[in-house]
Amino acid sequence: MPRTSILTEIIICVSVILVGWQETAALQNRNGHPRVPTALSNHRSNVEPSSRRDFFANAASSVGGATVVGTLAVPGPVVAQAAETKAVPLSLPPIGLGCWAWGDAVFWGYNPSQDKDLNEVFDYVVTQASGGSKLGTPNVLLDTAELYGLGRSEFLIGEFSKNLSQELQEKVVVATKFAPYPFRTKPENVVKACQSSLKRLGGNRPIDLYQIHFPNVVANEEYWDGLANAYEQGLVKAVGVSNYGVDALKACHTALEKRGVPLSTNQIQYSLLYRFPEDNGLLQACQDLGVQVLSYSPLALGLLTGKYTDVGSLQQVSGPRKTLFEKTLENPQFQTLLDTMKQVASNHDNANVAQVAINWCRSKGTIPIPGARNLRQIQSNYGALTWELSKEEVALLDKAASFPYNTPDLAPFPRQDKSTGLVMFDS
Ligand SMILES: NC(=O)c1ccc[n+]([C@@H]2O[C@H](COP(=O)([O-])OP(=O)(O)OC[C@H]3O[C@@H](n4cnc5c(N)ncnc54)[C@H](OP(=O)(O)O)[C@@H]3O)[C@@H](O)[C@H]2O)c1
Repeated sequence: MPRTSILTEIIICVSVILVGWQETAALQNRNGHPRVPTALSNHRSNVEPSSRRDFFANAASSVGGATVVGTLAVPGPVVAQAAETKAVPLSLPPIGLGCWAWGDAVFWGYNPSQDKDLNEVFDYVVTQASGGSKLGTPNVLLDTAELYGLGRSEFLIGEFSKNLSQELQEKVVVATKFAPYPFRTKPENVVKACQSSLKRLGGNRPIDLYQIHFPNVVANEEYWDGLANAYEQGLVKAVGVSNYGVDALKACHTALEKRGVPLSTNQIQYSLLYRFPEDNGLLQACQDLGVQVLSYSPLALGLLTGKYTDVGSLQQVSGPRKTLFEKTLENPQFQTLLDTMKQVASNHDNANVAQVAINWCRSKGTIPIPGARNLRQIQSNYGALTWELSKEEVALLDKAASFPYNTPDLAPFPRQDKSTGLVMFDS
């Protein structure tokens, strides 16, 4: 039985782009060396950094010089007003839009010619918040990160938002993430990174949700202080974490509580193909603490959409995704799951397999944040909001998805904070 972790594949990519040159064992690329983005590899060949910090600073500007960075240096003052003394709960819609692919060349094959399609996706979700459609959600959630496309994803969101009215901007909830590079060990690193993200996002209003992308080997407590500082300074309206296990979640919640800052979200891998958060108590812990769960990769990177049925259907897919998909498609239990999803979709008018995957995440009380790269995909994903799974259907899907396909064993996140001993990641 194949036992490959989607999470591992994802993080390997991220690691290769940004942490691949480091010797941090916990983040090492264990499965080979996917190609490096052109701008970054150009940078490497031209400039030998004197330190890791210099390297990343230079890498960022090199990338920006070619494709991103003109973009990174967005002018204009950052509006940072003091946070209100009373915390306002973060209001989130029942579905989000993942923007990892918006700028990521290595894993997703992004190039700027796709920007028009991405702009259409953005405009579509804004329409949902503006009440311009029957679906109408009170607001929309876009999830990005400073790592995605080395800032390109954040920049695109900033660009697409430029001409929105103030009223609409308020309805676009932007969640971005701090990258815990091993050399970032101080609270001020969080605040500085947050300011840079804020500029790329347009710089005219606080970030709605600022998350720690994944645990670090050390300095996790310092990051929580950094989050609280960013919150107190009014740079962000709410804070969250990502890829945190139960113990880390509880410790972070307590630390932030002491500063009067609510921990709003934990963004974790959760899908019909990755159900560890159910088994290890993480979903329950989030619920107990009132921490909203954002389910990332709810479509298992596209596998749970029904468009890939056998190895022959993978012609358009390349890189690490292809290897992962091949292994999964060969698993007869996955085929049974797909058949069940198709059967469930056929019970509902105009429903499809991707919507079944999304609604399964919703049925578990989480907010799925599927990625979308064109209008057809985003319309389909939002279409999931027009119907719901019955209890019987959820049970049927649970059963079909009860095989142990993915394992977190190989996930390259640090399991434990080396200085405090706290278990950080366990799913
Ligand atoms: N915190 C973390 O560590 C972490 C890790 C991973 C992801 N995330 C977040 O979660 C978001 C979503 O996860 P993900 O992008 O990894 O994977 P995903 O949502 O499981 O899959 C997204 C991909 O599925 C395909 N797709 C989407 N909608 C479709 C539809 N209706 N019909 C057919 N195909 C469809 C698209 O790929 P094609 O265009 O190739 O068909 C799309 O890029 C990310 O964008 C990111 O914001 C966070």
